[in-house]
Amino acid sequence: MIRKFFKTKKFRVFLLSLFTFLLILMVGFYASETYSLFSSLYSKNSAIYSLKQSNMVFFGGNDRLKLAYPDIFNNLHNSAFYYFFTISLILSASLIIFMFAYFYRLIDKEEGTLSTLKSVEKNILEMPSTILHEIKGNINSLSINSRVLGARVAGVKDFEGEKEEITRISGAIETETHKLVQTMENILKFTKDYHLNLEEINLSDLLNFVAETLKPKAADKGINLRVSLDKNISVKMDRDLMEQVFINLVSNAIESYDGEKGDVSIYSSFYLNKILIIIEDNGKGIKQEIIKKVYEPFFTTKKNGVGLGLALVKKILDAHGFKMHIESNYNKGTKVSVIFKDLEN
Ligand SMILES: Nc1ncnc2c1ncn2[C@@H]1O[C@H](COP(=O)(O)OP(=O)(O)OP(=O)(O)O)[C@@H](O)[C@H]1O
Ligand SMILES: [Mg+2]
Repeated sequence: MIRKFFKTKKFRVFLLSLFTFLLILMVGFYASETYSLFSSLYSKNSAIYSLKQSNMVFFGGNDRLKLAYPDIFNNLHNSAFYYFFTISLILSASLIIFMFAYFYRLIDKEEGTLSTLKSVEKNILEMPSTILHEIKGNINSLSINSRVLGARVAGVKDFEGEKEEITRISGAIETETHKLVQTMENILKFTKDYHLNLEEINLSDLLNFVAETLKPKAADKGINLRVSLDKNISVKMDRDLMEQVFINLVSNAIESYDGEKGDVSIYSSFYLNKILIIIEDNGKGIKQEIIKKVYEPFFTTKKNGVGLGLALVKKILDAHGFKMHIESNYNKGTKVSVIFKDLEN
């Protein structure tokens, strides 16, 4: 909690303000000293001047001056020094107040927007699933109705010249609503409490099924999916949930290619006593500074991404007690490993 506070912007602003305050105080102090020095010069008292010049306040000059010429010192030094010092104090105090007010407004604005966004996102994930289902149903019927309407209107004679435009608009509505339905489905999957239905699953069968499902998506982008798995490995897991895990991971690998052709390899490996499934691509990779964020719900770098894929993957793996590891080089590719429990378990 305290360590967190030291890392906040508020703390940095506090430090900056304190530093500025001390700086102004010092400048004010020396300005006052210099003024009293020059005043002594104008007083044409060379003895005082030289004494003061050679011994500024830090070297005890003022004390000696006070002892030698108490009257002059009191008139000169006190009035000049304290006059300037008071002004500099007032100035620095008002500057600090201004700075605090200014920065607090800035920070509040920034953090306020961020926390509102975060809480809106969180609220969506905490909504009762009945409401989420209802919203999904509404969007679904909107999607179907817009398709039917588009087809009907395009068939009416009066609209003869505008058929193309009508088909384009109804197509756009359908695509967008379809995306919304998918987003709702992902949110629903994410918010669900998992009751694992565990059974021995052959990893080769599961991964081949996932590859078959995603082959059209890969072929569309000119990507070659290669599966190379030991046929005899079985692990206890919830098949449907683990299928979602691999669909998400392989989809991410396919989506990591920006137009260029490439390969996505799915293979098994062993590390110590554990089985690993590795999904490897040579796509655009993940920048080091965002690699920690990829598991956060709604974090995405894609134009049409929702950012729930890896959050969902993590949740399902945690429920099973499985782990995952991402290794990525920006512009070179990514290697995602799913690590199952020890072989004897
Ligand atoms: N194989 C990969 N190659 C490059 N970047 C990746 C890869 N896997 C994940 N990422 C990065 O992690 C981010 C989060 O991934 P995640 O699957 O959670 O969301 P998404 O794919 O953006 O959206 P969706 O909800 O549709 O899955 C991605 O936007 C991308 O920046
Ligand atoms: Mg994804």
